[in-house]
Amino acid sequence: MARRRRLIYGNFKMQLGIAATRAWLADVLPVLEPAVGVEAVVFPSFVCLALAKAAVGGAPLGLGAQDVSPHGEGAYTGDVSASMLREAGCSHVLVAHSERRRYHGEDDELARRKLRAALASGLRPVYCVGESLEQYDRGEAAAVVAGQVRTGLEGFTPEEVGRVVVAYEPVWAIGTGRSARPEHAARAAQWIRDEVATMYMREVAKEMPVLYGGSVSPSNVGAYLTQPGVDGVLAGGASQAPETYLGLLEAAR
Ligand code: PGA
Repeated sequence: MARRRRLIYGNFKMQLGIAATRAWLADVLPVLEPAVGVEAVVFPSFVCLALAKAAVGGAPLGLGAQDVSPHGEGAYTGDVSASMLREAGCSHVLVAHSERRRYHGEDDELARRKLRAALASGLRPVYCVGESLEQYDRGEAAAVVAGQVRTGLEGFTPEEVGRVVVAYEPVWAIGTGRSARPEHAARAAQWIRDEVATMYMREVAKEMPVLYGGSVSPSNVGAYLTQPGVDGVLAGGASQAPETYLGLLEAAR
């Protein structure tokens, strides 16, 4: 059986501005080798997308945005539409990252509208789910994750859902240095697939890429990538320095 593609995604958050993104690209692009079976995508700030696109050219590095408007176009000051992201060179977009949920009150209903907008424009959305520390401690992780999947992914066609990537990112592991045990990530990937199989078809659930995110580093990434059902990682901190992002890619090879 052919090995599944490994996805190494990097979330720059609000941590790399224009100069820092330029410097990152100048370091990474010359040494980036096309790797069979590895998909590298980074998610810079909105203001860096156009310059990143110009710098990347034909290099094997995809670009995504960190958020998208649920609206197609119109008087929505501050929003950025999916078609604008396409125009800026994005192929991917993060939806409902836990920092959007936490600091901007985004919920699963809004996530669904953003997923719809992204899919309608041909973007590949990365839908972020994951339980809080309190929910984890109360033993509610499986129910929380299944609920986020159920509400966020409701009402699409199997073909549409087939274009979604789900990132399991337990809130307690993001930016804390406390990464989830790899077996926990594998269990969560299974919860996600079970829910998708119930909602759509088993085949859709099987094919759907599921990522783990939360304090991923070059030293622990291998343990996630070898878990059954984990197709890759969404890294924040470790993606923001060129050497560590290249370390993640190296591990994926
Ligand atoms: P982290 O962030 O790798 O810095 O924990 C992950 C994320 O927010 O996607």
